[in-house]
Amino acid sequence: MSETIRELISEAALDARIRELGKQISEDYAGKQVHLICVLKGGVFFMCELAKRITVPVSMDFMSVGSYGDGTTSSGVVKIAKDLDESLEGKDVLVVEDIIDSGRTLSYLLEILAKRGPKSMKLCTLLDKPDRRVREVKVDYTGFVIPDEFIVGYGLDYAQKYRNLPYIGIVEGIE
Ligand code: IMP
Ligand code: MG
Repeated sequence: MSETIRELISEAALDARIRELGKQISEDYAGKQVHLICVLKGGVFFMCELAKRITVPVSMDFMSVGSYGDGTTSSGVVKIAKDLDESLEGKDVLVVEDIIDSGRTLSYLLEILAKRGPKSMKLCTLLDKPDRRVREVKVDYTGFVIPDEFIVGYGLDYAQKYRNLPYIGIVEGIE
């Protein structure tokens, strides 16, 4: 109820880092088309900004996988709420996530997607909280490694609030 938000990563820092990631990805995928997969809803802000910084041809698809309720800890239950529209057959797939926390969501998702015949599959996350990892996940591109704090903004929510903040902040005054 009375939570407050303390800025952790500024809008300018996010912008600068996403530019770097876009440059790196453009170099790594030179001569190819990259098929970005957004994990809704949290990943959408990051994916749009990242896509604008990639200079090779880009296609995009969206899916929604849930492991969280309205609280701040993983339920461990992962379900596909919305599947992709297109096949991954023969595509160079880059899964774009907002944050990797326990790793449960991503390890499950990557397992499913790998069975759909992509030519290659990599993972890009804006934020990584390695201290919280329960399942091992191989991350190819990371924006920022952050401490074990509950954060919001830039797509990330607390009970569906704060996704629209243009910066990343720590939620204080909860629990
Ligand atoms: P995991 O399965 O534990 O890795 O959880 C991944 C998902 O949990 C993310 O895609 C987010 O939607 C959510 N999540 C994890 N940590 C946070 C956080 O600090 N703030 C907001 N959402 C989070
Ligand atoms: Mg998410």
